[in-house]
Amino acid sequence: MGKKIFDSDREFDTLYSEAVQKHSFIHWTPLEIIETGIDWLQLDKNSHVLDIGSGAGKFCAVAGSSSKARFTGIEMREDLVDAANAIRDRLGADNVTFKLADITTIDFKDYSHFYYYNPFCEYIAEFDRIDDRITYDPDSFRRLEDYVINQFDQLPHGTRVVTYCSETFPFPSSYELKDLLYDGKLALWVKVR
Ligand SMILES: C[S@@+](CC[C@H](N)C(=O)[O-])C[C@H]1O[C@@H](n2cnc3c(N)ncnc32)[C@H](O)[C@@H]1O
Repeated sequence: MGKKIFDSDREFDTLYSEAVQKHSFIHWTPLEIIETGIDWLQLDKNSHVLDIGSGAGKFCAVAGSSSKARFTGIEMREDLVDAANAIRDRLGADNVTFKLADITTIDFKDYSHFYYYNPFCEYIAEFDRIDDRITYDPDSFRRLEDYVINQFDQLPHGTRVVTYCSETFPFPSSYELKDLLYDGKLALWVKVR
């Protein structure tokens, strides 16, 4: 990754409203994870990264500010898309786009690299939800995971996916685990067949 633009997560958080900041520790990716994740993705100017459930936009905005690749974040909560767009504008990251959409409307073939930070955890969590727009719903959890698994399975050989806090996500057998850090929380998967 290129230049470092923030010294700490706490400093980055001050760019958000308090309503968004309060979810930072549980739901937004830490800066050092973004840094390693971006290194692992091995991006160039032709890369297009999809953040699956982009929340308040931290991953895309930080990564996009120090990379020439394109980044798109897909997020189903409108207030978080608004917060993400505000951060993107504040950082002047023209290579970053946020879209309000359900991930099941997105064709992964339009992207080359992927970031997956446990986006559906709220459907099976007992607490720590962002708000009550997602409730306990294991059927939706399985449907959403199945959609992502199916999309990943159709991508070209060599596709790189970085996951964070997603140890139980069942990658299709076409992928191999290539690297692990942070007690297994950060993982690099590559499509090998
Ligand atoms: C753990 S947060 C990660 C945020 C961001 N990727 C980051 O690292 O800072 C997961 C996000 O996924 C979003 N999400 C959950 N289900 C979704 C769906 N079906 N479509 C789009 N976004 C979804 C949630 O609203 C939440 O903002």
